Amino acid sequence: MSNRRKIILKELGLLPLWHIKSENLQDSAVSTKFSSQEDQYKKCPASNISNDTRRQQILHMDWDQLKAEVAHCAACALSQARAQAVFGVGDEKADWLCIGEGPGAREDATGEPFVGPAGKLLDNMLSAVGLQRGNNVYIANIVKCRPPNNRNPAPNETRQCEPYLARQIELIKPKIILALGKVAAQNLLKSDENISTLRGKLHQYFGIPLIVTYHPAYLLRSLPDKAKAWEDLCFAKDTMRSLK
Ligand code: URA
Repeated sequence: MSNRRKIILKELGLLPLWHIKSENLQDSAVSTKFSSQEDQYKKCPASNISNDTRRQQILHMDWDQLKAEVAHCAACALSQARAQAVFGVGDEKADWLCIGEGPGAREDATGEPFVGPAGKLLDNMLSAVGLQRGNNVYIANIVKCRPPNNRNPAPNETRQCEPYLARQIELIKPKIILALGKVAAQNLLKSDENISTLRGKLHQYFGIPLIVTYHPAYLLRSLPDKAKAWEDLCFAKDTMRSLK
Protein backbone atom coordinates (compact mmCIF):
# COMPACT_ATOMS: atom_id res chain seq x y z
CA MET A 1 0.00 0.00 0.00
CA SER A 2 1.37 3.43 -0.93
CA ASN A 3 2.24 5.94 1.80
CA ARG A 4 -0.35 8.40 0.53
CA ARG A 5 -3.04 5.76 0.75
CA LYS A 6 -1.90 4.88 4.27
CA ILE A 7 -2.09 8.53 5.31
CA ILE A 8 -5.59 8.89 3.88
CA LEU A 9 -6.82 5.69 5.48
CA LYS A 10 -5.31 6.76 8.77
CA GLU A 11 -7.01 10.13 8.60
CA LEU A 12 -10.29 8.36 7.97
CA GLY A 13 -9.65 6.26 11.05
CA LEU A 14 -9.54 3.19 8.84
CA LEU A 15 -6.09 1.89 9.62
CA PRO A 16 -4.94 -0.51 10.90
CA LEU A 17 -8.25 -2.19 11.51
CA TRP A 18 -9.92 -2.59 8.16
CA HIS A 19 -9.14 -4.39 4.96
CA ILE A 20 -10.88 -4.28 1.62
CA LYS A 21 -12.91 -7.41 1.28
CA SER A 22 -15.04 -8.39 -1.66
CA GLU A 23 -18.79 -8.62 -1.35
CA ASN A 24 -20.89 -11.27 -2.91
CA LEU A 25 -23.35 -9.16 -4.80
CA GLN A 26 -25.71 -12.04 -5.22
CA ASP A 27 -26.17 -12.06 -1.47
CA SER A 28 -27.10 -8.42 -1.42
CA ALA A 29 -30.70 -7.42 -1.39
CA VAL A 30 -31.71 -5.67 -4.59
CA SER A 31 -34.24 -2.94 -4.20
CA THR A 32 -36.25 -2.19 -7.29
CA LYS A 33 -39.07 -0.34 -5.60
CA PHE A 34 -39.94 2.73 -7.62
CA SER A 35 -42.96 4.87 -7.45
CA SER A 36 -44.09 6.80 -10.46
CA GLN A 37 -42.40 10.17 -10.21
CA GLU A 38 -44.68 11.65 -12.84
CA ASP A 39 -47.77 11.89 -10.66
CA GLN A 40 -45.98 13.93 -8.01
CA TYR A 41 -45.80 17.08 -10.07
CA LYS A 42 -48.79 19.31 -10.10
CA LYS A 43 -48.39 23.05 -10.48
CA CYS A 44 -45.20 25.08 -10.58
CA PRO A 45 -45.59 28.11 -8.30
CA ALA A 46 -42.96 30.11 -10.12
CA SER A 47 -44.73 30.30 -13.45
CA ASN A 48 -47.92 29.61 -15.31
CA ILE A 49 -46.68 26.38 -16.82
CA SER A 50 -47.61 23.09 -15.18
CA ASN A 51 -44.95 21.17 -13.39
CA ASP A 52 -45.35 18.37 -15.92
CA THR A 53 -44.49 20.77 -18.73
CA ARG A 54 -41.64 22.27 -16.76
CA ARG A 55 -40.27 18.81 -16.03
CA GLN A 56 -40.49 17.78 -19.68
CA GLN A 57 -38.68 20.95 -20.74
CA ILE A 58 -35.90 20.35 -18.24
CA LEU A 59 -35.57 16.71 -19.27
CA HIS A 60 -34.77 17.83 -22.83
CA MET A 61 -32.09 20.38 -21.92
CA ASP A 62 -28.41 20.07 -22.76
CA TRP A 63 -25.72 20.93 -20.22
CA ASP A 64 -25.55 24.63 -21.06
CA GLN A 65 -29.31 25.08 -21.00
CA LEU A 66 -29.56 23.16 -17.74
CA LYS A 67 -26.82 25.23 -16.07
CA ALA A 68 -28.46 28.47 -17.18
CA GLU A 69 -31.88 27.28 -16.00
CA VAL A 70 -30.55 26.30 -12.58
CA ALA A 71 -28.64 29.57 -12.19
CA HIS A 72 -31.87 31.53 -12.67
CA CYS A 73 -34.27 29.10 -11.03
CA ALA A 74 -36.92 30.63 -8.79
CA ALA A 75 -39.17 27.59 -8.50
CA CYS A 76 -39.06 27.48 -4.70
CA ALA A 77 -38.36 29.76 -1.77
CA LEU A 78 -34.76 28.56 -1.41
CA SER A 79 -33.88 30.72 -4.41
CA GLN A 80 -34.70 33.86 -2.43
CA ALA A 81 -31.98 33.46 0.19
CA ARG A 82 -29.21 31.91 -1.91
CA ALA A 83 -26.03 33.66 -2.95
CA GLN A 84 -25.95 31.34 -5.94
CA ALA A 85 -27.26 27.97 -7.02
CA VAL A 86 -24.77 25.13 -6.67
CA PHE A 87 -25.14 23.14 -9.85
CA GLY A 88 -22.70 20.28 -9.33
CA VAL A 89 -19.09 19.66 -10.20
CA GLY A 90 -16.90 17.11 -11.88
CA ASP A 91 -16.51 14.91 -14.86
CA GLU A 92 -19.67 15.16 -16.96
CA LYS A 93 -19.05 11.63 -18.25
CA ALA A 94 -18.21 10.18 -14.82
CA ASP A 95 -18.86 6.56 -13.92
CA TRP A 96 -19.26 7.62 -10.27
CA LEU A 97 -21.94 10.04 -9.14
CA CYS A 98 -21.99 11.17 -5.50
CA ILE A 99 -25.18 12.88 -4.39
CA GLY A 100 -25.44 14.87 -1.16
CA GLU A 101 -28.25 16.82 0.40
CA GLY A 102 -27.88 20.49 -0.38
CA PRO A 103 -25.31 23.29 -0.27
CA GLY A 104 -24.13 24.70 3.04
CA ALA A 105 -22.78 28.18 3.68
CA ARG A 106 -19.43 27.61 1.97
CA GLU A 107 -20.98 25.94 -1.02
CA ASP A 108 -23.47 28.80 -1.32
CA ALA A 109 -20.55 31.24 -1.26
CA THR A 110 -18.30 29.36 -3.70
CA GLY A 111 -20.83 27.68 -5.99
CA GLU A 112 -19.15 24.27 -5.60
CA PRO A 113 -20.61 21.30 -3.70
CA PHE A 114 -18.81 19.80 -0.71
CA VAL A 115 -16.05 22.35 -0.18
CA GLY A 116 -16.18 22.59 3.64
CA PRO A 117 -14.89 20.07 6.20
CA ALA A 118 -17.47 17.50 5.06
CA GLY A 119 -16.16 17.98 1.54
CA LYS A 120 -12.60 17.35 2.67
CA LEU A 121 -13.73 14.13 4.28
CA LEU A 122 -15.63 13.17 1.11
CA ASP A 123 -12.48 13.78 -0.93
CA ASN A 124 -10.53 11.57 1.46
CA MET A 125 -13.18 8.87 1.35
CA LEU A 126 -12.99 8.92 -2.44
CA SER A 127 -9.18 8.85 -2.38
CA ALA A 128 -9.26 5.85 -0.08
CA VAL A 129 -10.91 3.85 -2.86
CA GLY A 130 -8.73 5.33 -5.60
CA LEU A 131 -11.13 8.07 -6.75
CA GLN A 132 -10.72 11.78 -7.11
CA ARG A 133 -13.22 14.62 -7.39
CA GLY A 134 -13.49 15.62 -11.03
CA ASN A 135 -11.76 12.53 -12.36
CA ASN A 136 -14.45 10.03 -13.33
CA VAL A 137 -16.45 11.41 -10.40
CA TYR A 138 -19.29 13.92 -10.41
CA ILE A 139 -20.71 15.49 -7.24
CA ALA A 140 -24.20 16.96 -6.97
CA ASN A 141 -26.91 17.54 -4.41
CA ILE A 142 -30.62 16.83 -4.06
CA VAL A 143 -31.30 20.58 -3.93
CA LYS A 144 -29.23 23.23 -5.70
CA CYS A 145 -29.83 26.07 -3.24
CA ARG A 146 -28.87 26.32 0.40
CA PRO A 147 -31.66 25.63 2.87
CA PRO A 148 -31.59 28.33 5.59
CA ASN A 149 -29.63 27.33 8.70
CA ASN A 150 -28.71 24.09 6.92
CA ARG A 151 -32.10 22.58 7.68
CA ASN A 152 -33.24 19.59 5.63
CA PRO A 153 -34.84 20.60 2.35
CA ALA A 154 -38.63 20.54 2.48
CA PRO A 155 -40.65 18.22 0.20
CA ASN A 156 -41.75 21.06 -2.08
CA GLU A 157 -38.12 22.16 -2.47
CA THR A 158 -36.84 18.67 -3.34
CA ARG A 159 -39.76 18.23 -5.74
CA GLN A 160 -39.03 21.43 -7.63
CA CYS A 161 -35.33 20.61 -7.86
CA GLU A 162 -35.71 16.94 -8.79
CA PRO A 163 -35.96 17.37 -12.58
CA TYR A 164 -32.57 19.12 -12.61
CA LEU A 165 -30.85 16.21 -10.92
CA ALA A 166 -32.80 13.72 -13.04
CA ARG A 167 -31.52 15.47 -16.18
CA GLN A 168 -27.95 15.62 -14.84
CA ILE A 169 -28.09 11.88 -14.22
CA GLU A 170 -29.42 11.26 -17.73
CA LEU A 171 -26.64 13.35 -19.24
CA ILE A 172 -23.85 11.89 -17.11
CA LYS A 173 -25.04 8.29 -17.40
CA PRO A 174 -23.08 7.18 -14.33
CA LYS A 175 -22.43 3.51 -13.74
CA ILE A 176 -23.01 3.86 -10.03
CA ILE A 177 -24.61 6.36 -7.67
CA LEU A 178 -23.45 6.89 -4.11
CA ALA A 179 -26.23 8.46 -2.04
CA LEU A 180 -24.65 10.43 0.80
CA GLY A 181 -26.92 10.48 3.81
CA LYS A 182 -30.57 10.03 4.61
CA VAL A 183 -31.95 12.96 2.61
CA ALA A 184 -30.19 11.87 -0.60
CA ALA A 185 -31.08 8.21 -0.11
CA GLN A 186 -34.72 8.79 0.72
CA ASN A 187 -35.27 11.21 -2.14
CA LEU A 188 -33.52 9.13 -4.77
CA LEU A 189 -35.18 5.90 -3.69
CA LYS A 190 -38.56 7.47 -2.87
CA SER A 191 -38.34 5.72 0.46
CA ASP A 192 -38.94 6.71 4.04
CA GLU A 193 -36.76 3.95 5.47
CA ASN A 194 -33.97 5.07 7.76
CA ILE A 195 -30.36 5.03 6.69
CA SER A 196 -29.41 1.92 8.60
CA THR A 197 -32.08 0.00 6.69
CA LEU A 198 -31.03 1.45 3.35
CA ARG A 199 -27.29 0.87 3.81
CA GLY A 200 -25.67 -2.40 2.77
CA LYS A 201 -28.08 -3.09 -0.07
CA LEU A 202 -27.73 -2.72 -3.78
CA HIS A 203 -30.54 -0.41 -4.86
CA GLN A 204 -31.40 0.86 -8.30
CA TYR A 205 -32.14 4.37 -9.52
CA PHE A 206 -33.93 3.78 -12.82
CA GLY A 207 -31.60 0.90 -13.64
CA ILE A 208 -28.44 2.50 -12.24
CA PRO A 209 -26.92 0.70 -9.23
CA LEU A 210 -27.22 2.89 -6.15
CA ILE A 211 -25.48 2.44 -2.81
CA VAL A 212 -26.30 4.37 0.34
CA THR A 213 -23.74 5.57 2.81
CA TYR A 214 -23.55 8.08 5.63
CA HIS A 215 -23.28 11.76 4.93
CA PRO A 216 -19.70 13.00 5.48
CA ALA A 217 -20.94 15.76 7.82
CA TYR A 218 -22.52 13.08 10.00
CA LEU A 219 -19.31 11.04 9.91
CA LEU A 220 -17.37 14.05 11.20
CA ARG A 221 -19.55 13.86 14.32
CA SER A 222 -19.77 10.09 14.58
CA LEU A 223 -16.37 8.49 14.25
CA PRO A 224 -17.49 4.88 14.86
CA ASP A 225 -19.68 4.98 11.76
CA LYS A 226 -16.66 5.72 9.58
CA ALA A 227 -16.01 1.98 9.62
CA LYS A 228 -19.44 1.39 8.14
CA ALA A 229 -18.86 4.08 5.53
CA TRP A 230 -15.67 2.29 4.57
CA GLU A 231 -17.66 -0.93 4.11
CA ASP A 232 -20.11 0.98 1.91
CA LEU A 233 -17.31 2.34 -0.25
CA CYS A 234 -15.79 -1.12 -0.63
CA PHE A 235 -19.22 -2.44 -1.51
CA ALA A 236 -19.57 0.30 -4.14
CA LYS A 237 -16.10 -0.42 -5.52
CA ASP A 238 -16.86 -4.15 -5.74
CA THR A 239 -20.18 -3.40 -7.41
CA MET A 240 -18.41 -1.22 -9.97
CA ARG A 241 -15.85 -3.97 -10.61
CA SER A 242 -18.63 -6.47 -11.15
CA LEU A 243 -20.14 -4.19 -13.82
CA LYS A 244 -17.01 -4.10 -15.97
N1 URA B 1 -23.50 18.91 2.44
C1 URA B 1 -24.14 18.48 1.34
O1 URA B 1 -25.01 17.62 1.41
N2 URA B 1 -23.80 19.01 0.17
C2 URA B 1 -22.87 19.93 0.04
O2 URA B 1 -22.62 20.37 -1.09
C3 URA B 1 -22.20 20.36 1.20
C4 URA B 1 -22.53 19.84 2.39
